[in-house]
Amino acid sequence: MGKKASDERAEQLTPAAVITGATRGIGRALADEFAKGGHTLLLVARDEAGLAKTASEIAAEHGVRVQHVACDLSIAEGCDAVEDALREHGLYAESLINNAAVLTAGFFQDQEREDLLRIIDLNVRAVVDLTRRFLPDMLARDSGGVLNVASVEGFMPVPYQSTYAATKACMISLSRALAYEVMGTNVRVCVVTPGPIETDIHANAGAEHSYYVHYYPVMTPEKMAQAAYKRFMRGNWVITEGWVNRITAFGVRFLPGIMHIPAAGWFFRVRDADGNP
Ligand SMILES: NC(=O)c1ccc[n+]([C@@H]2O[C@H](COP(=O)([O-])OP(=O)(O)OC[C@H]3O[C@@H](n4cnc5c(N)ncnc54)[C@H](OP(=O)(O)O)[C@@H]3O)[C@@H](O)[C@H]2O)c1
Repeated sequence: MGKKASDERAEQLTPAAVITGATRGIGRALADEFAKGGHTLLLVARDEAGLAKTASEIAAEHGVRVQHVACDLSIAEGCDAVEDALREHGLYAESLINNAAVLTAGFFQDQEREDLLRIIDLNVRAVVDLTRRFLPDMLARDSGGVLNVASVEGFMPVPYQSTYAATKACMISLSRALAYEVMGTNVRVCVVTPGPIETDIHANAGAEHSYYVHYYPVMTPEKMAQAAYKRFMRGNWVITEGWVNRITAFGVRFLPGIMHIPAAGWFFRVRDADGNP
């Protein structure tokens, strides 16, 4: 196909925000924010029924077009399915929101090898894969952007959530480097680094009684998503919401590891309902 024909075909496509992990928690709240902003959405998660329900609720509430694709992003075929779904629905990825992630908690040696590898596959491999698939077109169009949902845990080593925190550090590093590479274009690469948010992710990892959930300020997904959307549209590189999270992110740069790693260990140790490790 000649360049003119492919440009014409591209012009018929509708720009969409691709949001991974959009059925609940922060992803669902981000989907609402992007819908409020008038964006067409492609929602991604594994649960087909949950996606269909979320898509119809958002479409009804905000009057935007919402498509969905059920796939497992922790395997390579999952990312193929996202590209196929865009093509099938006549969309292109104007924004990519890499939000889907899994968390496991506890001593590293007690966590299943398969679960640890799934964290790497979903939190890192899928992020790199989807970004590599869609960023070149954003640059060719000179518009759009990538919003990566990392965590304040990505700023430091975190005992008992070691692999998860390491994947979030990778995400922050990748995002900041790409933000530099796309500088001078109208494409944005941003990373948001939330502290604890009221979602099921902690209980699903068995960490609901860890001290960080109780003693650290907890934010709603809606408040987090509002801040992330606004500052993504503005083009901020690193979005850290909440003063305790900002102090943490700033402070760990200057405190020696011998101080902040034991502190993180105290906060993140898996405990029972009575606080016993
Ligand atoms: N909650 C917090 O305190 C917190 C703090 C900092 C950062 N974050 C980050 O914020 C993001 C969202 O967290 P959350 O708390 O909202 O999580 P959540 O409530 O557990 O939701 C996770 C979402 O990801 C989807 N998902 C899980 N595995 C998937 C897979 N293999 N393929 C495709 N989709 C998958 C889930 O849907 P299905 O199960 O249907 O696939 C769900 O929609 C994550 O990146 C997390 O690391 C969360």
